[in-house]
Amino acid sequence: MKKVVTVIGTRPQFIKMAMVSSALRPAGIKEIVIHTGQHYDKNLSGIFFKELGINRPRYNLGVGSAQRSLQIRRMASGIKKILISERPDLVLVYGDTNSTAAGALAASRLGLPVAHVEAGLRSFNGKMAEEKNRIIADSLAGLLFCPTKIAVDNLKKEGICKGVYLTGDVMYDSIKRKLRRLGPAAEKTPYILCTIHRAENTDNTGNLREIFKGLGALEERVILPLHPRTSKYLGRYGIAAGSNIKIIKPAGYSKMLNLERHAKLIITDSGGVQKEAFILGVPCVTIRDNTEWLESVRSGMNVLVEAKKKDIVSAVKKMYKVERRPMPRD
Ligand code: UD1
Ligand code: UDP
Repeated sequence: MKKVVTVIGTRPQFIKMAMVSSALRPAGIKEIVIHTGQHYDKNLSGIFFKELGINRPRYNLGVGSAQRSLQIRRMASGIKKILISERPDLVLVYGDTNSTAAGALAASRLGLPVAHVEAGLRSFNGKMAEEKNRIIADSLAGLLFCPTKIAVDNLKKEGICKGVYLTGDVMYDSIKRKLRRLGPAAEKTPYILCTIHRAENTDNTGNLREIFKGLGALEERVILPLHPRTSKYLGRYGIAAGSNIKIIKPAGYSKMLNLERHAKLIITDSGGVQKEAFILGVPCVTIRDNTEWLESVRSGMNVLVEAKKKDIVSAVKKMYKVERRPMPRD
């Protein structure tokens, strides 16, 4: 193996890629990075390359936002052209976004081997774009790197056993690397940290309204790094944030880990933030019907709630009392 093409496009992928890239270099493997341009705001993209010191993309397709199938088609066509000229030994994709599916599709159309990092996760909600993207990537990949035992078992149940490796979680490795340098709490008074960006919560007026009513009804201070998708829909539906909510721009990775580590509680619908809460031992309320990270729910540190004001408030009351757990040792 001499040359790998990595296809990425969204915030969590830049973070996941950092760990693997830093292992490729010493192994003598050349990595060429294609950024699809799915995330293009500085706070969702550029800042991560700077902070994580990852390989700058050799190519940026600049695809931007679009409806899912159109976006995947545009990405796959751009990626295919590059793969034809670069001729890598392997195409590496991460996670479950439209960029992941596009990378896997483009590679497999050219008969190139695909490796999927974060393989085997399932929410069992076939309506989610992310579930569709994961299934595409897992069905096309010859190397499937699973973060958890549950992920390996999910693949086994689908008859995928060849090329499956239980590697552990790259985001866990990444937290361990960063922990020592996080510094003291960035906020001086106690707070709940919240992120909301999942399509089923943002694009649905009823759900988004209920979530903001729930957050606004809390006694505690809430810090909310706001994803542009959520910002757009708050504006479109005329939903205002309560006076206990401090909205900040999307945070850089170290700042986000600092906010997570020192939070009394995390409320989120993000896959990555849920998992980081679990790793950091911070109680979590997840506003979703299902999760790919069952381990966190089974441990008692994470509960799932519907996007309803009443349910959010009562879950927060319950989880606020849960003791933090010690962080993993370096
Ligand atoms: C995408 C992934 C989601 C992942 C998330 C990480 C898919 C289907 N979704 O969701 O799995 O959890 O990234 O953050 O791949 N926008 C901007 N600036 C940007 C990017 C997006 O303003 O740089 C706005 C646009 O209005 C866009 C909307 O956000 O329409 C949604 O962006 P998109 O990339 O489609 O999905 P995410 O919600 O970011
Ligand atoms: N994250 C960040 N800044 C933020 C929000 C999230 O750096 O303002 C990080 C977070 O720490 C985690 C990753 O982004 O590592 C999760 O990505 P996101 O929530 O966008 O997507 P998901 O994990 O749901 O796909």
